[in-house]
Amino acid sequence: MNESTIKVAVVTGGGHGIGRALCRRLAKDGATVVVADIDEAAASVVAKEIGGVARALDVSNEKAIARLVEEVEQAHGPIDMFISNAGVGYGDGASGAISAEGGMNPIDDRWDISWQVNVMAHVFAARALVPRMLKRGRGHLVNVASAAGLLSQIGDSAYTATKHAAVGFAESLAINYGDAGIVVSVVCPQAVATRMIGIEDDSDSLEGGFRGNDVDGIMRPDAVADIIVDQALAGRFLILTHPQVTTYVQRKASDHDRWIGGMQRFRRKLL
Ligand SMILES: NC(=O)c1ccc[n+]([C@@H]2O[C@H](COP(=O)([O-])OP(=O)(O)OC[C@H]3O[C@@H](n4cnc5c(N)ncnc54)[C@H](O)[C@@H]3O)[C@@H](O)[C@H]2O)c1
Repeated sequence: MNESTIKVAVVTGGGHGIGRALCRRLAKDGATVVVADIDEAAASVVAKEIGGVARALDVSNEKAIARLVEEVEQAHGPIDMFISNAGVGYGDGASGAISAEGGMNPIDDRWDISWQVNVMAHVFAARALVPRMLKRGRGHLVNVASAAGLLSQIGDSAYTATKHAAVGFAESLAINYGDAGIVVSVVCPQAVATRMIGIEDDSDSLEGGFRGNDVDGIMRPDAVADIIVDQALAGRFLILTHPQVTTYVQRKASDHDRWIGGMQRFRRKLL
């Protein structure tokens, strides 16, 4: 499959950040892009800008994803690329995954939302699309996880755990359906200049992003989107937007205990 064959694409979380940049890139390539976001107003702005289609969507709602897939295919034809990009991260702390006293937070809502949005939404998209893509013998499922899904996000245990699960789920999809023509990609970026790390959309300044704690620099969403689309179209499974992640993953795999020690030192430095 090459660029010209991506006629119809859906991007969840397309109203802001990386998702918005993905919508812009795919529209530039000539695709009909469905901008799906829980933030309906933001989805509408992006859709208007790129000549796409805005859809209000809460990715934690399986029926809503199934309905979206059905309606998009009815209206526009087969979905060639579905990018499960919407994601959430709350951080540890009083209202996050770990209580202020250091114990696991007894209030599980942040764990639940993280699990639904960061993992189950990918499952819901696959349930809706794999049967259709199997019949067609083609299609791209692109799941945006994080470098935290291969390494760790210091200060966000629910984000780390759910992004690991997202990587594992994408591996299963790729292994199970690769032979049938479904191309699965999982995206594992480090810091990207979006609201998730405290930078507003289209901000010129990267100042204060990640509270100054980014390790290898903050990338801009448009550069990240180009890498994602190019590599997904090339059929790549693991898409690393920040090249340093390869080295970190190799170090972790070669001596897990030593890697934990290094992360503990890094945490002390951050504190
Ligand atoms: N920014 C980074 O540094 C970074 C690094 C690694 C991975 N990621 C991942 O990239 C993806 C995109 O994040 P971003 O950085 O662009 O952040 P962002 O906050 O700018 O965008 C996230 C988008 O997802 C939408 N969203 C949230 N919950 C939703 C739901 N239930 N249903 C539908 N839409 C929902 C938001 O409205 C928003 O438009 C996420 O999966 C995130 O975990 C981001």
